[in-house]
Amino acid sequence: MQLDPEDEKILAGEQGETRQKMLELLVALGKVFGAEQLVPIKSAQVSGASYKTIGEYGLQWLSSLDAKAVVPAVLNPIGMPRTRWKEMGIDADFAGKQQAVVEAYGRLGIGLECTCTPYYLHETSFGDHLSWSESSAVSYANSVIGARTNREGGPSALAAALIGRTPCYGFHLGQNRIPQVVVDVQTATRDWTVADYGALGYHAGKLVGNRIPYFTGIRPERDQLKALGAAMAATGAVALYHVEDVTPEAQKNRFGIGCLEKIPVELKEIAGVFQEVPVEAVALGCPHCSPEELGTLARLLTGKRVTKPLYVFASQGVIDTSRKFVEVIEKSGAKVYADTCMVVSPVMEQYRGIMVNSGKALAYVPDMCGGVAWMGTTEECVRVATE
Ligand code: F3S
Repeated sequence: MQLDPEDEKILAGEQGETRQKMLELLVALGKVFGAEQLVPIKSAQVSGASYKTIGEYGLQWLSSLDAKAVVPAVLNPIGMPRTRWKEMGIDADFAGKQQAVVEAYGRLGIGLECTCTPYYLHETSFGDHLSWSESSAVSYANSVIGARTNREGGPSALAAALIGRTPCYGFHLGQNRIPQVVVDVQTATRDWTVADYGALGYHAGKLVGNRIPYFTGIRPERDQLKALGAAMAATGAVALYHVEDVTPEAQKNRFGIGCLEKIPVELKEIAGVFQEVPVEAVALGCPHCSPEELGTLARLLTGKRVTKPLYVFASQGVIDTSRKFVEVIEKSGAKVYADTCMVVSPVMEQYRGIMVNSGKALAYVPDMCGGVAWMGTTEECVRVATE
């Protein structure tokens, strides 16, 4: 692997033990995957931020590090909202540990926005190289924006943030971004909702596994693409997909799809994802809501009162720029929380049935929260929360 003289100094420990260890990690990763060089990155998104997932050993490891991020970096959602944790019912012991994790990342120069939608906060453009961790963010960056990132683990994304580069292999290389299977959706209509695309992703992820799918027959918009990719990353391991005439790399990849396996998907298969269960709480914002999604919720909740807990999750940056929507949503009794989500917060473990509008949440809630999940459209979720 090509390294420059500056890298040799870092590896010799001239810039401190943390930078030495972090570059060693990146070089080792690059060697495993056959990377010829490190490539500069525009930003990093670091998972392993919730105390619920990293525990005491993770906190100790983070606390032992001493270096500063050299590119913009944010955290993945953590186990609680940083400022409203008491209101959410988080116990003080957990909050103290979670705060310690956040402070440890802060000392490393990682931005303390905790979100799986970093693309709403930092400009991310076609062709940018990134080191992002969270699967839905990786899928969105690769597929919808046309940026380039592998699905990093928390330590490798942190290492890339501290060094400013990542090994150039996998999705950083054009030859690894070519479709491998066609998913032909036979009955999609123009009025498909975000939840319909989440359900399609939930179903398609199981069919395509870790291959790169090329979709035909659908015309999703941005929030719908977000839902599609998040769900496919959860039930499959899809980090990049193309949609004919929609996503930025579809056009140049359309030649050759005639030779690929073609999987037909029918409406009845999508409908099968919407299984009803008894609902104790409703949770929206997986991935974190866009300003447009908060606007839709504000419209649906105007003049209504919730009768069940209704949680809405978004990044602090999006909440700050959508204050007028957030006020309307919270006037109904629903809560809009930053920094955390229905999967990584321990608060959701108290509910046995959770209604969601996300294929990813549908896949993760049973394992991560212990309850059953019911997928509905955003409108149905609001109706159930307010009936
Ligand atoms: Fe984001 Fe949490 Fe869903 S990290 S994609 S809101 S499971």
